[in-house]
Amino acid sequence: MESDKLQVLFVCLGNICRSPLAEGVFRHLVRQDGLEGRFAIDSAGTSSYHEGDPPDSRASAVAQARGIQLSGQARQLTHSDLQRFDYVIVMDAENRQAVERLARQKAPRAEVHLLREFDSDAAGDLDVPDPYYGGPRGFENVHDIVERSCRGLLEQLRRSHSL
Ligand code: 4NP
Repeated sequence: MESDKLQVLFVCLGNICRSPLAEGVFRHLVRQDGLEGRFAIDSAGTSSYHEGDPPDSRASAVAQARGIQLSGQARQLTHSDLQRFDYVIVMDAENRQAVERLARQKAPRAEVHLLREFDSDAAGDLDVPDPYYGGPRGFENVHDIVERSCRGLLEQLRRSHSL
């Protein structure tokens, strides 16, 4: 991956719901700001449950309703991701524990953050709820959280990297 780009990896459990949504929303915001040449954006899952699968149709539907096309195939997070990416953005505390377990082999180069650290509306709970076993309302809620948080993340990165 090109080293002149800021490399941002979104991580959840299955890499079919929350992290592809965050990847798509963040990519959309970056493009709106004309910064697509400055970022490399990807997503991965801490599990291999859905390896090779496309994004969940419910996640694609909420994104599509807002003009965002989700793409990609689920893949499992690897130790080399933690060295390759500048920022690893996890959806919940369980994901962070999984990243920490993987990082025991070698300290990661990436900065690891919870996505909701950048949510202007987060009050105490910093987990993006897992929508997999819920209905479409859960996905709407996750989309709103992800969009607010991605806006905050982009603002923060623009500030700290003078973009
Ligand atoms: P995600 O959602 O971590 O947001 O992609 C899930 C997808 C699949 C499963 C759990 C959560 N699963 O147990 O298969």
